Amino acid sequence: MDYRQSPGFEWHEELDSTNSRAHELARLPDTPATVLIVADRQTAGRGRGANTWWSAEGSLTFSLLIDASEEQLPSVHWPLVSLLAAQVIGDAIAAFLPGHDVRVKWPNDVYLQGKKVCGILVEVPPVRPARLIVGIGINVNNSLLEAPEEVRARATSLADEGSQAFDREAVLEAVVTPFLAKLDRLRESDLGFLERWPQRCLLTGKQVQVDCTTRIVEGRCEGIDHAGALLLRTPSGQERLFAGVVKHWE
Ligand code: BTN
Repeated sequence: MDYRQSPGFEWHEELDSTNSRAHELARLPDTPATVLIVADRQTAGRGRGANTWWSAEGSLTFSLLIDASEEQLPSVHWPLVSLLAAQVIGDAIAAFLPGHDVRVKWPNDVYLQGKKVCGILVEVPPVRPARLIVGIGINVNNSLLEAPEEVRARATSLADEGSQAFDREAVLEAVVTPFLAKLDRLRESDLGFLERWPQRCLLTGKQVQVDCTTRIVEGRCEGIDHAGALLLRTPSGQERLFAGVVKHWE
């Protein structure tokens, strides 16, 4: 698919948030089944929970609005969508930066040389038939030297690691085309992509601490299962975590 030719493609110079624009479009009756919204600048980029998403000139920020009606994408597969996106993005970044360490961190981050390079925010707008919004921020040509101190300490960009600029449209293409192709397989309940998760998993074998809102769970990571749950070996047995924020790993 050439996404530029698709009826649901918007590239904006500036938006508050591509996810917020996707929420607007999700409410409209004639919005195409798949929409790609890209913004050169976001003035109010959102992260998970109460977090904001820092971006600057050269960042790649975009959202995909996808059909997630029960016939098209059974809700049991929804938790796998951020994992699929992370894996595709990890593969794309590894292709642009051969020899670099590229990892996926459950459930929705991508790490490059030990630092966060991409965040994914999946949201469920309150519409019927159901849709999902997959918001993706990749630090491509924005240097973290310009970032606020707390972001700079734990994030990086393709340009910072590769010491060169990258074609953002090529990065977008390298993510969107395989993502939509693999999403079609997930729509058919093909979970084959999960077999490759261990190759890039940042957490497997590490002692991790996960904030699950009502409790903190600590244990050794044993990977993920077919439902996308994080598997932790704790003193009281194996725990399957379906949601949470990984706060610490070593
Ligand atoms: C996170 O790591 O907390 C998720 C960050 C997601 C950021 C992207 S940028 C494009 C899309 N629009 C937003 O407002 N957020 C997501």
